[in-house]
Amino acid sequence: MARRRDGDLGSHLPAALTMYGVSGMLHAACRNGRDARSQMNTADTITPTSPVDRSSFVDAMSCLYSGVSVVTTDGPGGRRALTVTAMSSVSADPPTILVCVRSLSPISAIIRANNAFCVNILADNQQHISETFAGRVRTGDPYDFGIAEWSTRTTGSPVLSGAVAAFDCTLNTALEVGSHTIFLGEVRCICNREGHPLIYGRRAYARAEEAR
Ligand SMILES: Cc1cc2nc3c(=O)[nH]c(=O)nc-3n(C[C@H](O)[C@H](O)[C@H](O)COP(=O)(O)O)c2cc1C
Repeated sequence: MARRRDGDLGSHLPAALTMYGVSGMLHAACRNGRDARSQMNTADTITPTSPVDRSSFVDAMSCLYSGVSVVTTDGPGGRRALTVTAMSSVSADPPTILVCVRSLSPISAIIRANNAFCVNILADNQQHISETFAGRVRTGDPYDFGIAEWSTRTTGSPVLSGAVAAFDCTLNTALEVGSHTIFLGEVRCICNREGHPLIYGRRAYARAEEAR
């Protein structure tokens, strides 16, 4: 893998958040002497307790290489987008994905208000779009939709032109876990095309063509 640039976002990885969520739920279930399965089905806020310090966790998670996506939403709550690595497939039947977003990010409340989101998997020539929607631009405006072309499909959430895949979803469930919210979306429309995805790991962008 060809490494590219630096950054810091070790706390946003899907495996980590899923692990945190499940261990938090099981922990709570054991504490309460209740059945873990019923806790998992009903909880919508989980506060993990862990003896592990944050920086060790972030450092260890940075070794996981992930695709980079921009999650978008538009509707009565407004239009917004955010760069994420923390997305994952959850179920094929029905097609369901998850995305983990910092609960204090403005987009979290907007996704809830719009009841929909779209996860756009970036191509390896879209690093500047990743930086824009991470709010890390050197010139121009952060979070500026004007830097790319967009369309809409089923939910009205923006679909990014040139993305290698896009999953247009209605919001199924929002589960708060520590600092982040896991948004589960039922996939209503899929767009995909040929191309190499943008990769991020060890706090740098990388290309994935060697993985083919
Ligand atoms: C490559 C990359 C991946 C990121 N992954 C996530 C993520 O999975 N979840 C998340 O909440 N923030 C993630 N971030 C951070 C957000 O994009 C953003 O920088 C941060 O939340 C601050 O913006 P805000 O004030 O709108 O929240 C990532 C940033 C970058 C550059």
